Order: sequence, then structure tokens, then C-alpha cells
Amino acid sequence: MPDLKTVVAEIAEEMRKRPDRGQVASYIPELAGIDPDQFGIAVIDANGEVAAGGDADVPFSIQSVSKVFTLTLALGKIGDRLWRHVGREPSGSAFNSIVQLEYEQGIPRNPFINAGAIAVTDQILAGHEPREALGEILRFMHFIADDTSITIDEKVAASERRTGFRNVALANYMKSFGVLQNPVDYTLGVYFHHCSIAMSCRQLAMAGRFLAWRGKNPTTGHSVVNPERARRINAIMLTCGHYDGSGEFAYRVGLPGKSGVGGGILAIAPGMASIAVWAPGLDAVGNSHLGRIALEALTKRMGWSIF
Ligand code: DON
Repeated sequence: MPDLKTVVAEIAEEMRKRPDRGQVASYIPELAGIDPDQFGIAVIDANGEVAAGGDADVPFSIQSVSKVFTLTLALGKIGDRLWRHVGREPSGSAFNSIVQLEYEQGIPRNPFINAGAIAVTDQILAGHEPREALGEILRFMHFIADDTSITIDEKVAASERRTGFRNVALANYMKSFGVLQNPVDYTLGVYFHHCSIAMSCRQLAMAGRFLAWRGKNPTTGHSVVNPERARRINAIMLTCGHYDGSGEFAYRVGLPGKSGVGGGILAIAPGMASIAVWAPGLDAVGNSHLGRIALEALTKRMGWSIF
């Protein structure tokens, strides 16, 4: 078995040198100025050992990776009733696409495309004040990551709110079908803020541990979800976590994963590791270009795949 720390150090060095870095997301102005030369990786193994490389301690905007955690939280609150508001099938479309909503009566395909995540956030909000819902999401992040220093980047949230015209359209469209219960402004306010949570690779890998170890944090022994729910969240990450790039990610990396336009990816090797990578440059479908390449190298060298 290759040594994890050596492999992680090698990958960090290889990624640092690569000239192909993808394109930083520019539709959120606050993200457009991020330096694409950064790369971070953190891997936590079954013993709680962390192997980290590159910019593993630099906080970045987790964006859509937050959708894994809001899904977990919403399932905890209302259980399988959540599936009345959102589906579980890959969309085969862009993360911000609206087309399917019209012929599927406003029910988004899955909880990871923007429309689906907005519907999930609406269920967490459930008539409460946006500030309370946001506090609940942040407290959940503190609990699963064992880290109370995790915060929201207000500048990114404000930037999203100013320019999130497509999300406003998606939310209003769903509202017209009766899929959203709360005022659209409230739901979007919470959504933009949870997308703007800032975390480092190390913090993100810590937060993902419950998914790698059957719903339990192996270090603290705290149960977050039951094993069946952990398995199902992983299944949705595998099939929908990279939008229209989910097939390619499964083919190349072979693990459940969730990407965000900030360039982060959380990947889960069940029973083996919780992994976070970050490289701000994206590929054509909005997933981290070097993040995917680094994960492919890691799973190949460590022999980690669910297949
Ligand atoms: O709503 C948005 O467009 C962003 N807050 C999140 C999109 C995202 O991260 C898609 N991921 N690749």
C-alpha cells in the first residue's frame, strides 16, 4: 500500500506545476479575482490522520459543496417528505438550467442543481426567519467539522445576491408551481449565504467524515445520520454531484463527489477517506479542472474506488 502522505505531497507538487488551470468562475464577481495558481488537498484516513498539501489551509468559497450539507440537514428535519419537493435523478443539464422545470411541474431533478438546492433550502427555512435558518446551517457545519471558526463570506453572499438573476428566475418559477413555501427573497437569501460559506480543504475534509464512515464521525463517535442515509447521500453525490460532468467524474475518479464553482470538491472513499481538493479554475461544465485531475491521480495511486 503506497504511503498516503507521500502520495498527497507528490500530487500537490504536480498540480502546482501544471500550466492548464481552467477558468475561474466570473459570473459571481467576487470570485472572478481569485488567483488560479492556488491548489490545496486534504485527506483524512480511517485513523483520523490528515495528509495535506499545497494551500490546504486557505479558506475558499465552498459554493455548491454546501448543498451536500443542506441536503443532510433537510433530510434530518423532514425525512423522506423532502422528495415531494425535489427528485433524485441526474439532470444531464447545466447546474443553473431552467428547461426541465417547465415540463416537470417545477420539481427540480435533484438536490444539487441550483433549482434543487433552492427547494431544499426552502424546506430548512420552513417559515422561520432567514437568520435562524442560516444559524442552523452554520451550527451544523461547526458540529460536523468539529470547528466553530467556520464562517460565511459576506462579500461573496452580497455579490451573489446582486448578480444571481438566474437563481431569482429559478426560484420564482418554482414558486409559481407551489414548490417553494417561503417568500422567494427569504429562501434565496439563505441559499446565497450557505453557498458563501468559506472553508479550507482541511475543514471540508473534516466535515465530510460522517459520509465516509457510515454516518458517524470516527474521531468523536458522534452520529450525524444513520448508515442508510449516509449511503444514499453518497449515491446522489455519485450520480448528480458534478452536474453534466457526473458520468465523467465517476469514470475517472470512481468516488462520490460534490463540486462547487469556487473550485472545491469533496470526495468520499467509503471506509477509507474523506477528501477535499481545491483549485479555483473550472472546466467547461463548472467543475474544478485540476481538482478532478488530482482526485483521479489520488484514487489511482491509492487504489480507492467504489467499483
Ligand atoms: O447559485 C450559484 O450559481 C452558486 N452559488 C453555486 C453554483 C455552483 O457552485 C455550481 N457548481 N459547480
